[in-house]
Amino acid sequence: MNRVRRFDRVVRRLQSPLTGTDLIAPLLSALVRSTRPVNALEIGVGYSTPFLVKALADNQREAERERRLLARRASADRLPDALPFAAREFYQGEHRPHLVVIEVLTERLHEVTATVHRLGLANLMTGIRADFRGALSRVAEARRLFDFVFVDANPWEAFFDEYWSSVNPDGGMVILHSPLGAKSHREALSELRSGTGFARQLGAYEMTVLPEPHKTLQNGVLILRRVDSVEHESTSPLRSHPHEAD
Ligand SMILES: C[S@@+](CC[C@H](N)C(=O)[O-])C[C@H]1O[C@@H](n2cnc3c(N)ncnc32)[C@H](O)[C@@H]1O
Repeated sequence: MNRVRRFDRVVRRLQSPLTGTDLIAPLLSALVRSTRPVNALEIGVGYSTPFLVKALADNQREAERERRLLARRASADRLPDALPFAAREFYQGEHRPHLVVIEVLTERLHEVTATVHRLGLANLMTGIRADFRGALSRVAEARRLFDFVFVDANPWEAFFDEYWSSVNPDGGMVILHSPLGAKSHREALSELRSGTGFARQLGAYEMTVLPEPHKTLQNGVLILRRVDSVEHESTSPLRSHPHEAD
């Protein structure tokens, strides 16, 4: 069985019509693949989790392959044909991405951890069994500053109060599931759009909503990008270090 079919078969058992990430999980994977975060965080685990871990693993493998290719041509100061646009500073250190997940339900965390283990990717993930509210200090033991966050649990207010300052101010992305579903989500979305209420405390950010117009609940994602420290957009690869503090 090829690798893609095996992945699909292993993760299928985590899929549920009630959690609604059937199309969002592959989208998250594509975002991780293209932005190559080092430190990722997920709040509320499930079908999406193996997609995140696998995307990080694929990035790691690809980055190491590219780093070796670049090193081979270093003396001649020529880029290999296969890497015509390589930003050399991205390849200065090893690319060692990692996902921290927080989940309040023990059984669910076990099930997802077992799936990630079955895929041979357990070394890229740290699971924390906790209510995410009040758990930042435990998260910070694993990683301090996050380049990519998927929030699929409530309440959002707690995420913004406690975790926003741990998002990389140099372009860290936060994806929040179902911004058009719950009333509290729609209210938060409205304040984020107008920069009022709690959004006044967040500093600079960019945002967009990708709706799934055929759904009432578990509908689409809100994508935020923290840009307090973005200075040289085209020349500063998104790269935090495992224990870098804000
Ligand atoms: C909608 S499901 C997650 C879906 C998952 N991302 C997926 O793609 O299937 C929400 C998850 O968040 C967890 N959760 C809800 N509130 C939480 C909290 N305050 N802290 C930690 N986990 C929470 C739930 O137990 C549940 O597993």
